[in-house]
Amino acid sequence: MAARDLDPALVHARMERMYRPQRAIYDLTRKFYLLGRDPLVDSIPARPGQRVLEIGCGTGRNLVRLGRRCPGVLLCGVEPARSMLELAARRLARRGFADRARLAYATVETLEPLPELGAEAFDHVLASYCLSIIEEPLPALERAVGMLAPGGTLHVVDFGPMDRLPRWAARAMRAWLARFGVRHRPEVRAELARRAAAGEGRLEVHTIAGGYAETLRFTRAARAPA
Ligand SMILES: C[S@@+](CC[C@H](N)C(=O)[O-])C[C@H]1O[C@@H](n2cnc3c(N)ncnc32)[C@H](O)[C@@H]1O
Repeated sequence: MAARDLDPALVHARMERMYRPQRAIYDLTRKFYLLGRDPLVDSIPARPGQRVLEIGCGTGRNLVRLGRRCPGVLLCGVEPARSMLELAARRLARRGFADRARLAYATVETLEPLPELGAEAFDHVLASYCLSIIEEPLPALERAVGMLAPGGTLHVVDFGPMDRLPRWAARAMRAWLARFGVRHRPEVRAELARRAAAGEGRLEVHTIAGGYAETLRFTRAARAPA
């Protein structure tokens, strides 16, 4: 991997360039093709006192949705596009979550326990259509898993292999996503399966709409493997 792929300054600049012009219409337009987000967010069993972190939280819509259903949960987000982060902060404050929301301007690959997040480990980490846009998803995945408390769960929803869609539809969709540097990342599922096989945790996989998208749920073992 080239060092430049992990240079946070370049990621911040690229994401800001991509998202600033569309921040006002982002949520409306993504509603129709980022499938599986709401069911995944609604299935996160966060209890009062628990800590949730969304990597690449964008406009904060998932954190708001989670906050409404789960009282007393700490809602944290990291986001490298400044304009999206500002939008998320405004939205969380407007919906009355300011006292339990913490946001950080950061990339997941370089994420360390940050004082502004108010927690060093999380009971739930959410990656919603985030890993597919990251140039090198494995270091990002490693940091996301590394932020889990023992027994904590990583919830991923993202584009899938599209293997059961009509071939023309899969081809058109892949070509369109490629224009934004987005693609299915089979290595994410493979790496979580490897960790599960090594006794580091448990993996559940669900396919959505003919492989258009998939959800991966990795629950870290409460104790390190012997
Ligand atoms: C398709 S959007 C998804 C936003 C939100 N999770 C949702 O479900 O609407 C991808 C998000 O990932 C963020 N992102 C891109 N690279 C990132 C990185 N290296 N670390 C953390 N977030 C990143 C982008 O800035 C963007 O907000």
